[in-house]
Amino acid sequence: MAAAAAASGSPALLLCALLFQLRPSSGNSSIQTAVNITWSSINFKTILEWEPKPANYVYTVEIAGGLSDWKKTCVYSAQTECDVTYLLENARDIYTAHILSEVPLRDNSDFDDAPYAVSPTFIPYVQTLIGRPAVKHFEQKHDILKVVIEDPLTPYRFQNSSFKSIRDIFTDDLEYTLYYWKDKSTGRKETKTRSNEFKVNVDKGKNYCFYVQATILSRTENRKSEKSFDRCTKIDKDSLDDFEPEGIIAIGAAAVGIFILFIISCVVAYKCKKLKAAAKEKENAPLNA
Ligand SMILES: *[C@@H]1O[C@H](CO)[C@@H](O)[C@H](O)[C@H]1NC(C)=O
Ligand SMILES: *[C@@H]1O[C@H](CO)[C@@H](O)[C@H](O)[C@H]1NC(C)=O
Ligand SMILES: *[C@@H]1O[C@H](CO)[C@@H](O)[C@H](O)[C@H]1NC(C)=O
Repeated sequence: MAAAAAASGSPALLLCALLFQLRPSSGNSSIQTAVNITWSSINFKTILEWEPKPANYVYTVEIAGGLSDWKKTCVYSAQTECDVTYLLENARDIYTAHILSEVPLRDNSDFDDAPYAVSPTFIPYVQTLIGRPAVKHFEQKHDILKVVIEDPLTPYRFQNSSFKSIRDIFTDDLEYTLYYWKDKSTGRKETKTRSNEFKVNVDKGKNYCFYVQATILSRTENRKSEKSFDRCTKIDKDSLDDFEPEGIIAIGAAAVGIFILFIISCVVAYKCKKLKAAAKEKENAPLNA
């Protein structure tokens, strides 16, 4: 900049350029401005991080996006990170942060004089990473494998105070893919849905394993989430299902049959005893008379 100004032959411009370059360190040479500023964001929870650790000074973060004014947070902080989640609620806005380096006791009134560093821009809708989806429920009945996914939640809430999920923000732009394969085989199949439920046809009586992954269709980078953990069905444990409903009826009928037989034999035994007793009584009757 200075070289360009000198080349253009304007001493005033040169002076301006020099002053501008000196400005960040004009207060106290031990004050440094932030470097290596990064946004770490997952499911819309966003932390701004930078270096170096401050000595004899503190940082203040200010953020603006869309048409909004600069808003301050993490004021006079000795940390080198700041949770800025709640300053980024308009997911599609383009946000920029300034990280001010200040000595609060000396010039506590005037933020505007503090040297600052400018962050890269950040668009939550495009850049927040999608976390590992969780499998809420799955079951294999006959030849249908059903898998229900739990939409990851964001830190943002509806007015009724329940948390918004990533589905509430991405709507139809969020797709899940189910990867599934017959246990101990390598042939993997996949199917996609824009809801959070899969129903796929599988071979009856075989165990299946699967995992799911979310995709944000409009993105070119960071399109896919982490994979969910692998899960497998266990047909043996659920094998009662295979008896249904004929099996249950057969078992029930057998139980009823056995019960009836038991009653009959009791009655028969009782009758026999009674007959025998009566016969004995008859035998003994003449003696007692
Ligand atoms: C900067 O400030 C520190 C502590 O506030 C002080 O020790 C140091 O001498 C100052 N340096 C200059 C160049 O003023
Ligand atoms: C910034 O990052 C680079 C590369 O990771 C590293 O070498 C450098 O030390 C960092 N700067 C500070 C002030 O920590
Ligand atoms: C809160 O409101 C949202 C959207 O208006 C709705 O989807 C959700 O079910 C509500 N939650 C509760 C607990 O009422």
